[in-house]
Amino acid sequence: MQILTTLEDSVLRLQINRPEKKNALTLGMYEQMTSALEDAGRDPKVRVVLIHGHADDFTSGNDLQDFVHAPPVGEDSPVGRFITAISHAEKPIVAAVSGAAVGIGTTMLLHCDFVYAAKDTRFQLPFVNLALLPEAGSSLLLPMQIGYLRAAELLMLGEPFSAAKALQYGLVTEVCPDGPAALSAAQFSAGLLSAKPAAALHLIKTLLKSPYAGQLAAQVGDETRHFVERLRSPEAAEAFRAFSEKRAPDFTQFA
Ligand code: COA
Repeated sequence: MQILTTLEDSVLRLQINRPEKKNALTLGMYEQMTSALEDAGRDPKVRVVLIHGHADDFTSGNDLQDFVHAPPVGEDSPVGRFITAISHAEKPIVAAVSGAAVGIGTTMLLHCDFVYAAKDTRFQLPFVNLALLPEAGSSLLLPMQIGYLRAAELLMLGEPFSAAKALQYGLVTEVCPDGPAALSAAQFSAGLLSAKPAAALHLIKTLLKSPYAGQLAAQVGDETRHFVERLRSPEAAEAFRAFSEKRAPDFTQFA
């Protein structure tokens, strides 16, 4: 199983489990996470969702082979449905991250309520390096959360950045020592949340998000349209070829 689910003390844990590929997310993994989030929303036994990977990696983002062989075609694709599910989730979501947190491994955190990062976490929004653009509403949420200049730096340069920088920019709740500490901190917060009155928590989350909910849906629509188009571009084909050939892409051949 590449997504492991466990329900314990009202906390549903979703563990991304594909360590041999740095926990890259396949279509099937998105589908499993979407179903788990949707089921969690309906199940009164679940009060909190906790998402994590392995100590070595949270996730290296979308599987790049899938981008080549089964690219998303719209919001009804597995990744689109996952974005809808996580952005509409009514119950609190806590994340514990470490190692690679790349692409959607960073942007999904914008939909979480608490993010605990191991010191060794390497965040990256590498879309531009793949000739792609931000997804999961990050072109709206990122500048809103950390400011325009910081969002432009992370999205237009696409360089990896540390947990310390993520904390300074306001992308994570807390930085923890390497090893199991981030997961322990996430479990501790999830435990506290599971004892709170669920209806009040739900209303707080709804009120925090409602001022931009409509705008978010529209932005995700725009991002998806452009993303699907850019995925078909010759620049993206060069980026994916370069990744599989373990070399740097050469974009200078394109205007
Ligand atoms: N999709 C598919 N396979 C991936 C992957 C991804 N997103 N990320 C890593 N892998 C695979 C590698 O191809 C490699 O497979 P192999 O052993 O069969 O050759 C394996 O996972 C290990 O990855 P590797 O690149 O050797 O590890 P690393 O520690 O040197 O680098 C990363 C780790 C995350 C920096 C690097 O793998 C990377 O940049 N991945 C792509 C990230 C990305 O662009 N994601 C999409 C964002 S939209």
